[in-house]
Amino acid sequence: MLTGAGISAESGVPTFRSADGLWNKFKPEELASMAAFVANPKMVWEWYNWRRELIANVKPNAGHFAIAELSALLPRFTLVTQNVDGLHALAGSRNIVELHGNIGRSKCSDCGLLVPEDCHIDPSAIPACRGCGGKIRPDVVWFGEMLDPNIIDAAFREAERCDLFLSVGTSALVHPAATLPVVAKRHGATLIEVNLEPTPLSAMADISVQGKSGDVLPVVVEALKRRHRLSPSGEPR
Ligand code: OAD
Repeated sequence: MLTGAGISAESGVPTFRSADGLWNKFKPEELASMAAFVANPKMVWEWYNWRRELIANVKPNAGHFAIAELSALLPRFTLVTQNVDGLHALAGSRNIVELHGNIGRSKCSDCGLLVPEDCHIDPSAIPACRGCGGKIRPDVVWFGEMLDPNIIDAAFREAERCDLFLSVGTSALVHPAATLPVVAKRHGATLIEVNLEPTPLSAMADISVQGKSGDVLPVVVEALKRRHRLSPSGEPR
């Protein structure tokens, strides 16, 4: 399963490419890139602190909880998310692969050493890494950066061997994440998409549902439970 910003929209977390999305208000290269951080680390941290605070004040929605239920019902389940908000974990999903990092974590911009998750960063006095003295930055993937090879490899392995691939709340425009459903489909998986609007994936999906994930996913999970008579252990009853 792959999720994007749309799954958290009903919790109040802005998406990126909608009319009121983040990338319509801010320029990604001016806030979410190493060049921006080097040029103006204070501004970058102010923006991330604003997003951290926003996320700290929202809750998982019905879509996140439906996915958590699915993760408990299915014996083999992997959730690959592009979201950095941590709401899937908060909803109780298991086996989460965070492709783009987690906004709650911070790390050294030079050596990558992680700092404690609840570490608050003062933009006017950005702390230095305990290991090498480098400036601390958010542990998210920025524009122009490679994804962690172990993480993206794990995501592609799961896409290649799954029977069913759900793509939810993503514009399916950002690669390599957007390649995952295509790979799953090529390897024989059934592809289901849930999104507010059509995406480049819609034409190849076996089922493409247009609607809010918080409305659609609970219905999908109930239908899967009925059809496959799944018990909480994931075994057919
Ligand atoms: P986008 O903002 O590109 O797309 C969000 C999608 O969710 C859109 O197609 C919306 O129509 C849909 N959507 C909105 N509300 C929805 C709802 N309630 N239910 C279902 N669908 C809904 O976000 P992503 O595809 O996640 O990367 O963007 C991918 C990456 O681009 C992000 O992870 C981020 C961004 O640049 C990094 O920061 C590295």
